Amino acid sequence: MESALTARDRVGIQDFVLLDETTEAAVISNLKKRFNKDLIYTYIGTLLVSVNPYKELDIYSQKQMDVYMGVNFFELPPHIYALADNAYHTMLTEFNNHFVLISGESGAGKTEASKKILQYYAVSCPSTTLLNTVRDKMLMSNPVLEAFGNAKTLKNDNSSRFGKYMDIQFDSQGDAVGGHILNYLLEKSRVAHQNHGERNFHIFYQLVEGGSDNLLQQLGLERDCQRYNYLTQGQCATVSSINDRNDWKSVKNALQVIDFDETNTGHLFEVVASVLHLGNVQFDADGKGHALLNDNTDLDWVSNLLGVDANKLLEDLTFRKIEAKREQVLSPFTIDHAIYVRDALAKAIYGQTFTWLVNRINETIENKDSSRKTVIGLLDIYGFEVFYVNSFEQFCINYCNEKLQQLFIQLTLKAEQEEYEAEGIEWEPVLFFNNKIICDLVEEKHRGIISVLDEECLRPGDATDLTFLERLEEKMGNHPHFVTHKLADKMIRKTMERGDFRLLHYAGEVTYCVVGFLDKNNDLLYRNIKDLMCRSKNAIVSECFSSMDLDNKKRPETVVTQFKSSLLKLTEMLMAKEAWYIRCLKSNESKQQGQFDEALIRHQVKYLGLMEHLRVRRAGFAYRRKYEDFLKRYKPLCPATWPHWRGQPADGVELLAQHLGYLPDEYKMGRTKIFIRHPRTLYATEDAYEKCKHDLATRLQAKYKGYKAKGEFRKQKEAATKIESCWRGAQARKEKEKRAWAVKVIKKFINGYINRGQAKNTDNSEYLAFVRQSYLNRLKNNLPKTVLDKTTWLTPPSVLTEASEMLRKLHYRLMVRKYVRGITPQKKVQLQMKFVTSSIFKGKKENYPHSITQPFVNSRISDQEINMGVLSMIRKEQIKYSVPVIKYDRNGFKPRPRQFILTQTAAYVVEEAKIKQRVLYMSLKGISVSNLSDGIIVFHITREDPKQKGDLIIQCDHLFECLTQLSIIANKQSAIKVVQGSIKVEIQPGKETAVDFSTGQEPMVYKAKNGHLMVVATRTRTR
Ligand SMILES: Nc1ncnc2c1ncn2[C@@H]1O[C@H](COP(=O)(O)OP(=O)(O)O)[C@@H](O)[C@H]1O
Ligand SMILES: [Mg+2]
Repeated sequence: MESALTARDRVGIQDFVLLDETTEAAVISNLKKRFNKDLIYTYIGTLLVSVNPYKELDIYSQKQMDVYMGVNFFELPPHIYALADNAYHTMLTEFNNHFVLISGESGAGKTEASKKILQYYAVSCPSTTLLNTVRDKMLMSNPVLEAFGNAKTLKNDNSSRFGKYMDIQFDSQGDAVGGHILNYLLEKSRVAHQNHGERNFHIFYQLVEGGSDNLLQQLGLERDCQRYNYLTQGQCATVSSINDRNDWKSVKNALQVIDFDETNTGHLFEVVASVLHLGNVQFDADGKGHALLNDNTDLDWVSNLLGVDANKLLEDLTFRKIEAKREQVLSPFTIDHAIYVRDALAKAIYGQTFTWLVNRINETIENKDSSRKTVIGLLDIYGFEVFYVNSFEQFCINYCNEKLQQLFIQLTLKAEQEEYEAEGIEWEPVLFFNNKIICDLVEEKHRGIISVLDEECLRPGDATDLTFLERLEEKMGNHPHFVTHKLADKMIRKTMERGDFRLLHYAGEVTYCVVGFLDKNNDLLYRNIKDLMCRSKNAIVSECFSSMDLDNKKRPETVVTQFKSSLLKLTEMLMAKEAWYIRCLKSNESKQQGQFDEALIRHQVKYLGLMEHLRVRRAGFAYRRKYEDFLKRYKPLCPATWPHWRGQPADGVELLAQHLGYLPDEYKMGRTKIFIRHPRTLYATEDAYEKCKHDLATRLQAKYKGYKAKGEFRKQKEAATKIESCWRGAQARKEKEKRAWAVKVIKKFINGYINRGQAKNTDNSEYLAFVRQSYLNRLKNNLPKTVLDKTTWLTPPSVLTEASEMLRKLHYRLMVRKYVRGITPQKKVQLQMKFVTSSIFKGKKENYPHSITQPFVNSRISDQEINMGVLSMIRKEQIKYSVPVIKYDRNGFKPRPRQFILTQTAAYVVEEAKIKQRVLYMSLKGISVSNLSDGIIVFHITREDPKQKGDLIIQCDHLFECLTQLSIIANKQSAIKVVQGSIKVEIQPGKETAVDFSTGQEPMVYKAKNGHLMVVATRTRTR
């Protein structure tokens, strides 16, 4: 596709406005160049020119739709989707109504164009399930209406034989939410008559070809178009380009989509079949030339299908009922008259049914909610057509095209140029052909062709088509656009019949044959037939004819007048909307692809006014807007005009234009409007606006968010301050209470302190309690850790003196108890021994304190160290204790090392294997030690024992241990004496000496000059 797009770019010029020269030749050459490359679309500004390619082009896919969606008009190659999209987006942004005027002659591609646009909206608008059904219905209304309203003509195999204007309604979101169809003048005459090479409406052939056997049987039809007079006059019931059988299926399917139930569909096909049967009703003449019916079969089918009385129908088809003097007279018809009435009935039934169909479709696609909607209207009306023989229908159709051309001129060429003038924009007027003169010729009141025709129809007397022609000649004999056989010069006369009149339409000359003008304009149906139809059992027919009959008293308006007023209404309605144009061109007359008939194209380019349009476009301005509106939309794009412009709107717009960088020839300032020459300038502005809108929205959003956040913050802050002050208040109150309480407590405390000496009373009870508690608490943490610690006890306050003392005792007792409990049996023995030592020596011998910490042992000489002989001698006495000692001889005090062993009964002094002395405990009368820190022990032994030699002097390093053991073993506690100064020693009976003690620097033991043993002890420092 990408490459296809680039190809488009290269072939010719996409917008005629950009052509170098604005000649017809250049325009046609450009069209041709593009047509040859299948580029059928070209712009003149925003007008789309489309050339019918007569072949399927691959440019209408979903993909293509996506490409064009939301893209600026001139950014992509010309396409009908670009126009559709642009109309849609303009509608959304400006919230106004639009319409697309699709014009061109019959077969130029108008109907196809309108379908393409509808499809584009169906696919590209936002969708919901609900909307999809509305959309489907709108889309599916097309095949149904085409089946009933289109026919093959010489110009177009699918020619619209009715005018169609369809509104697509959009809500503010751009969703297609509903639609409405207006139909204009169906070419009913086709029901009964078709020119050579043409067909009746498609539906007849579709039914006969496609209807099921069953259905055909029910309707009394045969599967053979040739059987029906109404289908064979054109002699082309089958056409290669049309597949009636397939189309039948599509129509059946479409009928379902647009909610036609079986009853409705049944009635609809009964009407179609009844028309076919009517066409086959043939009359013969009786003797007087009056019409009579020989074969009733088809008539019976008609009466059967329409549910009317067969005899009554026959009567109405062959007699006219005339009311005279309260009597009814039946006047018989001639065959021709009967055929006329028959055809009139067929046309009326079909025509009414077509209108009913449109109404039914409108009911299903109508949007009933009342919210405001905008619309895009699609006008697809029969195109200008010229046949070999042109009748009333062509007159109406071409008149309609004349009116639409007039509308186009009004809206583009004329209005545009008038606007430039009114706005004071410098302007070189572009001359164009204004077809108003032709419109006036046709429709002017009292003077126009329509008036003349109506007059002839209504006037009493023998008015005929020819008298109508004469009247025309009288009235507009010298009108430049009107000519008749009689009025024409020789040359022209040759080309005309006597019953013709010729009009010089904007699109070319058309010669009309007046035959049938009056009848067709009168569209008469006799009352009795109408009444019969009102009683039809076919709901569609009875409904249609009853409503038609509502104002039966008044003479109904003629067909052309009705048509004229409906066109007037249409133009008024279109004038209120913004217009978009598609000009469809026929590439050739033979519906052939690839054929570009230059002459034909030139002709269309001319009469469609494309050249004039191009010139106006080139010289003019693509866009204009009232200053106020322009400013209102684009003011955010310039700081000087945003957010408010207080000055004149024009000045604001000027500032804006300068700020946007518009070049001087790109825009003009009119009296009330700004004119912008090129669409690209506007698109650039619009793009900037879109961006700015986005930025603004973001900014506003940010501002709003900020504002909200600020508000929130302020609220929070206020709340915080409030909470804070409340909290502070609460705190302060608490503080105050606390202080008041503290003052009370302190006062009480002081009071208590002052009165602490008194007995417990209200003033001091708490204080005392506090003192007590605090003392006890302190005491708890400062209790003496050992029994020996007598100093740590806290001094109690006076109230607790007694309790403290008790506690102290308790505590010590507890400690003792704990201590005692913790003592092992060995330790107990030790302590018992130490106790003994203490009771002997405490406070008496100087080095006693040192001994306290020295544990006592039972033996200081192992058994191995004691001589075996000695051991065996004393073993039986049990060795309790042994210690090495120094023994001082009694004679001379010589020191001798000895073992001192205590047994159960005696103490031994042992030297190697020799027991030097054995002292029985009984013989031991005393033991003396000094009060100093020496280790001298003197054993006083009784004289009674002859074996004893005298007192024993030893020096023992373990004096306290040794003596404690001895005192325990021999129970000699009380025998031990601590002596000061000297100890008397009996060496032999009767011979005494002494051991003298003193203190000195060095411990010494020596024999003094006085013969005494001198012991010098060092002073033991006491703690
Ligand atoms: N865009 C197109 N692409 C292909 N064929 C087209 C296109 N427009 C028209 N045609 C052909 O031309 C025929 C006539 O077109 P139609 O729209 O019915 O003409 P109009 O409504 O103007 O009388 C169509 O049946 C179709 O075959
Ligand atoms: Mg058409």
